[in-house]
Amino acid sequence: MNILVVGANGQIGTHLVEKLKNTETYKPVAFVRKEEQVTKFEDKGIEARLGNLENSVSDLKKSMKDIDAIVFTAGSGGSTGTDKTMLIDLDGAVKVMEAAEDMNIKRFIMVSAFQADVRENWSEEMKPYFAAKHYADKFLMNSDLNYTIIRPGMLENKPAIGKIALTRALTEASDPMTIPREDVAQLILEALENDRTFLQSFDVTTGDQEITEALKGL
Ligand SMILES: NC(=O)c1ccc[n+]([C@@H]2O[C@H](COP(=O)([O-])OP(=O)(O)OC[C@H]3O[C@@H](n4cnc5c(N)ncnc54)[C@H](OP(=O)(O)O)[C@@H]3O)[C@@H](O)[C@H]2O)c1
Repeated sequence: MNILVVGANGQIGTHLVEKLKNTETYKPVAFVRKEEQVTKFEDKGIEARLGNLENSVSDLKKSMKDIDAIVFTAGSGGSTGTDKTMLIDLDGAVKVMEAAEDMNIKRFIMVSAFQADVRENWSEEMKPYFAAKHYADKFLMNSDLNYTIIRPGMLENKPAIGKIALTRALTEASDPMTIPREDVAQLILEALENDRTFLQSFDVTTGDQEITEALKGL
């Protein structure tokens, strides 16, 4: 199965591409925006396709030939303004969904953000970011795509813990509200073909359950 990782050069993306590469089932295809990033992945034996989330839907479709599933883990990051949040986290994500639908690619995993579905829980300074995530997620839920929306808590770069808490209830919160990026990557890997995750959206933080066990509870 060919998995297009949008945001492959990012922190979750890097973990995910490595994990996919180490399986027998999946072949990662890195979607990146710079020539040097293409070279970086190709040097590791990973196919990379050059594109940009600010480009048109028809341009994005060119990166989707022979792709079976898409993981969207891109983001404009904290150092850019609200304009880029709208163009990448919202419009970029929606354009990838539109392109996927046009290309008849059904499976789509979205990395959203903790509590993006509950407006009342958005902090004042992060409201534009959460709004972008919220409406991208809504577009996905209203699409024909077979989605899984993963809403992680605050991401950390510490080593994987391997234990998570999944919540589908809107008001539940687990403690701590953080999760290592590597655990999110592992969760994505395990969710790809797990039909319990199909058409589901959930928050995730570090918790008490092994990832595989936690997914059985969905
Ligand atoms: N930080 C948190 O605590 C937190 C919590 C919950 C959810 N999230 C979300 O989790 C996701 C992944 O997080 P992360 O920390 O792994 O992100 P990250 O390291 O910032 O990676 C984001 C990636 O998106 C790529 N990107 C940005 N603009 C692009 C464009 N125009 N075209 C193509 N690619 C573009 C970046 O490319 P370059 O490498 O070229 O810059 C980068 O590789 C993000 O959506 C983030 O919002 C974050």
